[in-house]
Amino acid sequence: MKRRKKQQQRQRKIPYLVLILVFLAAVIIIKNNWLDELLAPVFHFMEAAGEPVNAQPSNSQDEKEPIAPETPPVPEPEEEPQPPEPAEEEPEADYLILVNKEIALPEDFVPPNLTIPNVRFSQEGRAEIKHLQAAAAQALEAMFAAAEEEGIILYAVSGYRSYALQKSVYNRHVQNSGQEYADRISARPGHSEHQTGLAMDITSKSVGFGLKTKFGETPEGQWVAENAHRFGFIIRYPKGKEDLTGYNYEPWHLRYVGREAAKTIYENDLILEEYLRQYVDPSV
Ligand code: DAL
Ligand code: ZN
Repeated sequence: MKRRKKQQQRQRKIPYLVLILVFLAAVIIIKNNWLDELLAPVFHFMEAAGEPVNAQPSNSQDEKEPIAPETPPVPEPEEEPQPPEPAEEEPEADYLILVNKEIALPEDFVPPNLTIPNVRFSQEGRAEIKHLQAAAAQALEAMFAAAEEEGIILYAVSGYRSYALQKSVYNRHVQNSGQEYADRISARPGHSEHQTGLAMDITSKSVGFGLKTKFGETPEGQWVAENAHRFGFIIRYPKGKEDLTGYNYEPWHLRYVGREAAKTIYENDLILEEYLRQYVDPSV
């Protein structure tokens, strides 16, 4: 009788135990976020049946503290990456610019890309007159190096001269020698090729590092006369063309025009005006 009563009491406890177990199981499932996984087959079935399903349960934490957006995915490039567009190209340099007794440069004209060539100079200092346009500077370096390989040592004297500097140079010649003679050896301000940054006066030890007509007869002057065109230079005021150029013979005054023009000028014994008229613009 007693045993029976005990058995009945145990049987009455079973539903409570089952409830406790179910409750514990529910707590474990929710705590471990296993609900989605357990319900997935049900959601899948509902989707297949065309029911809209919000499978992402709202998360109260998301509302209070928005999760930082993910880094957006980098799209696959469709083609090979291209280099950036080059900056606007510099306008083509005008190495055939004509400056003479009739044609002047504006007072404020300053040539582009002025640089000091890495060559021997006859004097220290006066940085302004050591400059040339970059292409001319490079060509001068190549020419001096080629000359040196043949034992010819050249010195640069005077390259770029501003309008203001040319004015003082010309005025000094006028004061020293009078205007008529000054006009045979020196350009008036605005009319000098030195203002273009494309002209360089050169010399040698054999003429005392000066600008002398006899430079044309020295080995250095002869070498320059025969080879300057290979580097894009011409002797701008040659012997025998004084009436055309308006200036005395200047074997030291090199003008950069580029190799193509220099070759034609050299081979055909022309001055720059003749070359331009015959090969570029008949109206020059
Ligand atoms: N000696 C040349 C002509 C000049 O002054 O530019
Ligand atoms: Zn000169």
